[in-house]
Amino acid sequence: MCGIVGYLGARNAVSVLIDGLKRLEYRGYDSAGVAFLNEGALKVHKKVGRIAALEESLQALAPQTRIGIGHTRWATHGRPSDRNAHPHFDCTGKFAVVHNGIIENYGELREQLGARGHRFASETDTEVLAHLVEEAYEGDLCAALRAALEHVRGSYAVALLSEYHPERLVAARKDSPLVVGLGRGEYFLASDIPALLPYARQVYLLSEGEMAELTLDGARVLDRQGEPVAKEIFNVDWDAEAAERGGFPHFMLKEICEQPRALRATLGSRVTPEGDDAVLKEISLTLDELREFTKVTVVACGTAYHAGLIGKYVLEKLARIPVEVDLASEFRYRNPLLDAMTLVVVISQSGETADTIAALREARARGCRVLAVTNVVGSTVAREADQVVYTWAGPEIAVASTKAYTTQLLVMYLLGLLFAKARGTRTAAEIAEVTAALRKIPAQVEMILEQKECLRELAEKYCHCENVFFIGRGLDYAVALEGALKLKEISYIHAEACAAGELKHGTLALIVEGVPVIALATQDELLEKLLSNVKEVKAREGTVLGVCLGKKEEVARTVDHVINLPAAPSFVAPILAVVPLQLLAYYMAAARGCDIDKPRNLAKSVTVE
Ligand code: AGP
Repeated sequence: MCGIVGYLGARNAVSVLIDGLKRLEYRGYDSAGVAFLNEGALKVHKKVGRIAALEESLQALAPQTRIGIGHTRWATHGRPSDRNAHPHFDCTGKFAVVHNGIIENYGELREQLGARGHRFASETDTEVLAHLVEEAYEGDLCAALRAALEHVRGSYAVALLSEYHPERLVAARKDSPLVVGLGRGEYFLASDIPALLPYARQVYLLSEGEMAELTLDGARVLDRQGEPVAKEIFNVDWDAEAAERGGFPHFMLKEICEQPRALRATLGSRVTPEGDDAVLKEISLTLDELREFTKVTVVACGTAYHAGLIGKYVLEKLARIPVEVDLASEFRYRNPLLDAMTLVVVISQSGETADTIAALREARARGCRVLAVTNVVGSTVAREADQVVYTWAGPEIAVASTKAYTTQLLVMYLLGLLFAKARGTRTAAEIAEVTAALRKIPAQVEMILEQKECLRELAEKYCHCENVFFIGRGLDYAVALEGALKLKEISYIHAEACAAGELKHGTLALIVEGVPVIALATQDELLEKLLSNVKEVKAREGTVLGVCLGKKEEVARTVDHVINLPAAPSFVAPILAVVPLQLLAYYMAAARGCDIDKPRNLAKSVTVE
C-alpha cells in the first residue's frame, strides 16, 4: 500500500501535500515525494526515508504553488531509494504520476516502451504509466490517462499532473482506493480519507474503474468510457485517529479485514493467466537448481515460524523434499547440519528480526543459498538473501501479525508448487487443482469475515477464561499454534496449543469443567482421530469449539459450538482456518479492554536478541 495525495486550489499546495502524506504514513513510509508546478514548470522533489526527511529538504525551496501531487511509498518493485520514490516522469518531463497498486504486466510494457525509445529512470512498475501517458497524449489529459490504462493489467490508484495543464489534476482507480475531497474552490485527491480531514469533510469515493478530473471549476467523475457519473457525496464524520484506521477501532481488525486484498495482491501475477500453474518470476533458481536441493530448512520467529511449519507440511506433501523448521533463536546456536544442497528459507514480516537475520548470516556463512519471504522491500533480510519472494500485504501496523501471516502461507504453497514442478512429484493436473484452490481463497476469506459478529458473540462468552487450549492434527496443529499465539499476545489469556494426539500425554490433566478447547477439524483424513480427542475433552467436561470446512454433521454433534468455514480442500484449509482464530483473539482482547495494537512487553519488530 502507498499513500497518494493531490491538491488544486488557493493554498500552498506543497504544504497541503506534506500534511496529507504525514496522515497517510501508516500506508507506507520507505520514501516520499511531491511534484508541483512552479512558475509554469513541472518540478519534483523526492527522498528515500520518512516524510520528515522530504519536508526538511523542501524547506530551503519553500515553493509557492497551487497545484501538486504527492506520494509516500511502500515498495513492491524496486528497493527504497530517491530514484524509485514517486512521482515518476515520462521522457519529456512534462507528465508526473503517483501510483498505489501493482502493475502486473509492467515487465512487458517496459520492454515495449524501451523498444520504442523510452528511457527509464527507475526500477519501479509505476514509471511505465508516465511513458504510456506521454505516448497517448493528444491534448486531453483525461483521455491520455484512460488510453494509457488500457494497456495495464493489475491494480492502481493513480494521479497525473502535467505542465501542459497548470490547473488540472486527473486520477483513476482499479482495486486500490481513491477519494476526491470537495473543498470551497479547492479540490483534493487521496488514497485514503485521513489525508483530507483538515480540509474537506465531503468526498467522492471513487468506484472501480472510475476516473476523476479536478479543475478550479470543480471535480467531475467519469466512467471507463469517459462519460460523466453522478456521484453521491459521502460526509466524513470520523476523527483523525479513527480515520487512519479506516474507521476501524484498531489496526489489527483493519488488517484482518484487509486479508482478501493482501492475498489477491500476493497471488497477483504469480499464477498463470489460465490459472493452472504457479509462477514465481522473482526466483532466479532454475528448475534444475531447485531439483538439486536435498533439504529445505525454514528459519523464523513467532508467527512467521508458524508459517514455516505449514510450509513444512506443504513442501513435503507436494515436493517430497525433507523440510526442517527451526526457531531462529535456536538455529543460530545449535551448530545446524547444513550444506550447499540445503536451501534455507527465512520468513520475516519486518525483515529486521535480529534472530532471523543472524540465522540468515549463519546459513550463508555455511555456504547455503537463502530464500527470503518478507513483507518489506529493501529490508535487511531482503538485501542479504540470495532470493526474495515478497508478500504484498502492505504495511502491517498492529503488533499481532495477521495479513502478513496468511500471505506468508500463500507464498509457501506457491513454493511447494514450484518445487513439485521441478522435482516432477506432482502432475500438471494436480498442480492445477491446488492452484485453483488457492485462487478461491481471497473470496472465501471474505465469506468468513462476514461471520465477524457471530465470532464476537462467541468471544465475549469466553473472554473471562484464564486458560484456553487449541488442538489439531497435521496442518491443523500448526494452525493451532498460531491461534494460541494470537490469543495470548493480545488478550493476555494463557493460551496453548497441543497436538491433539498428545492430549493424553499430559495436557488433559488441565482440562476440567468449562475449560475452553478450540479444536481445528479441517483435515478430513484425520477427522475421526481428532473427534476422538474432542470426546476425551468432553469426557472431562471441557467446552469445545470446533472449526471445520463446510457443514460436518459429525463435528456439530460432538462439539459445543461449531464454526463452519467455506468448503475447500483440506490441504489449503490453514489459510482459512486461522481467520476465525484471529477474530476470536481480537474480540476476546477487546472485551477485556486490552491495548490490542500495542500489547504490553511486545514490539512489532524485535530488532534485538
Ligand atoms: C506475531 O503476532 C508476533 N508479533 C511475533 O511473534 C512476530 O511474528 C515475530 O516477532 C516475527 O516477526 P517478523 O515476522 O517480523 O520476523
